[in-house]
Amino acid sequence: MRTLVHLSDLHFGRIDEALLEPVIRAVSGLKPDVVVVSGDLTQRARSQQFKDAREFLDKLPSPQIVVPGNHDVPLHNPFTRFLQPLDKYKQYITDNLEPFYSDEEVAILGINTARSLTIKDGRINERQIAAIRDRLCPFPDDVIKIIVTHHPFDLPEGHREHDLVNRATRAMEAIAKCGADVLLAGHLHVSHTGHSSARYKIAGHSALVVSAGTATSTRGRGETNSFNILRVRHPYINVERLSWQPERSTFVPSSTEHFHHSADGWARVPDEMAADIVYEDRAGGAAE
Ligand SMILES: [Fe+2]
Ligand SMILES: [Fe+2]
Repeated sequence: MRTLVHLSDLHFGRIDEALLEPVIRAVSGLKPDVVVVSGDLTQRARSQQFKDAREFLDKLPSPQIVVPGNHDVPLHNPFTRFLQPLDKYKQYITDNLEPFYSDEEVAILGINTARSLTIKDGRINERQIAAIRDRLCPFPDDVIKIIVTHHPFDLPEGHREHDLVNRATRAMEAIAKCGADVLLAGHLHVSHTGHSSARYKIAGHSALVVSAGTATSTRGRGETNSFNILRVRHPYINVERLSWQPERSTFVPSSTEHFHHSADGWARVPDEMAADIVYEDRAGGAAE
């Protein structure tokens, strides 16, 4: 089993300070194999905001797969916006805009969808689609392949299409060809799980689409601060959401869903059947 923590939309510059230590404590306690941060680390891409984000990331477990969001590109300064859009992100967070992690059970690729020319929208380009093919196609079917972007490939009800990553349909062909299993994103500040087959009709493929809410920002769009835990053991994935509970000053489980992979892709397991799923490794002669 692999445990991933999925945080998003930190928005340093507009954070609730009271949540920082509880997030660090909760995430560290989970002992995740990988921590994913799907963009919008800052509110306005200012140096101090990136420094604060860096300090926060340093207190979280590693390895980390981090991608930028639209708020990590300077908005008001046209010089930096167009000529050095991610300079500060690269300086303080990481100069690797295509972070990658793999082991025997998971392969995780981060893709930068933030662009200078669009204020809010995100895009994926041909070179990045090729990177998805190069990085993920070589892995066998039992390695769970995960793509991390800021802008989502699917939307909860009531959201408009322009929030989707541009060229998503084109990218989804490569994603399906490589049998990519999970698409992690943020941007909406709303938690959501869905299936790519609901929007992209590709025979024999349906990736699990997971959006995280905002972990630390005060811009909750009606939803309390939260983050996701993914427990992954082929052919099963558990997505659990932890939500902030101010009365207890801690994050508590607020939903859990189980998914199973079959010939048509990932589908939700009914709750009454989920209790029989075993995620923990039982090797090593653990005492009964
Ligand atoms: Fe955001
Ligand atoms: Fe965003």
